[in-house]
Amino acid sequence: MNEQANPIVIRDSSPSDVAAIQRIYAHHVQNGTASFEEVAPSADTISTRRQSILDAGAPYIVAELNGEVHGFAYAGSFRPRSAYRHTVEDSIYVDPQATGNGIGSKLLSTLIERCTELGYRQMVAVIGGAQNAASITLHQRQGFVQAGYLKSTGFKFGAWVDTVFMQRALGAGDDSLPD
Ligand SMILES: CC(C)(COP(=O)(O)OP(=O)(O)OC[C@H]1O[C@@H](n2cnc3c(N)ncnc32)[C@H](O)[C@@H]1OP(=O)(O)O)[C@@H](O)C(=O)NCCC(=O)NCCS
Repeated sequence: MNEQANPIVIRDSSPSDVAAIQRIYAHHVQNGTASFEEVAPSADTISTRRQSILDAGAPYIVAELNGEVHGFAYAGSFRPRSAYRHTVEDSIYVDPQATGNGIGSKLLSTLIERCTELGYRQMVAVIGGAQNAASITLHQRQGFVQAGYLKSTGFKFGAWVDTVFMQRALGAGDDSLPD
C-alpha cells in the first residue's frame, strides 16, 4: 500500500462506518494491549459510543484508502469532571492489514488540528503497554512527550500491562487562559 499511489482520505465518520470501526477495534481488543477492554464491543455499542463523542462536540474521524475504511480516531473526554474540559484523550486504531503506511499519522495530525480549532488546550494519549512501540513512536513524531508511567495497571492475556501517558499542548496550551 503506497500513499502516493493510493491517497489516504481522512473524513468525518458516518453511521455507515460503524461496521468497519467495530471490525478494526475488535481485532485490537482481541489481539493487543492498546485497549484494556477484553471483550470486543458490538456494533450497537460502538454506535452509542460514537454518538456520545459527537454529542460532546468532539471529532470522530475515519481514514479511507481506495474507498474502504482502514482506520479511525476520535477525541474523548480525558476524565469526566468539569475542570478537565479543555483536555482531550485521543484514540486511534488502524486495520492490521494497513499499518505502517502513514494512516495513523494522518489520523492523529487531523485530530490535533480539529481539536486545536475547537479550542482544546491539551491532548493526552493513554497507551496500553510500554512495548507498544507503534503508538509511542506515532505520538512522539507529533510532539507528544512522556508524561507518566503507571506500572502493572492492566492485566491482559495473563500478564501485567503498564500504562504510558503521553501529552502535548494544543494551540496556545497553557500560555493563555481558555476562552
Ligand atoms: C499505533 C497505530 C495507530 C499506528 O498506525 P500506523 O498507521 O501504523 O502509523 P504510521 O504508519 O503513521 O506510523 C507512525 C510512526 O510510527 C512508526 N511505527 C509504526 N509502526 C511501528 C512499530 N511497530 N514499531 C516502531 N515504530 C512504528 C512509523 O515508522 C512512523 O514513524 P515515522 O513517521 O518516523 O515513519 C497502529 O499501529 C495501531 O492501530 N495499533 C494498535 C492500536 C493502538 O496502539 N492505538 C493507539 C492507542 S491510542
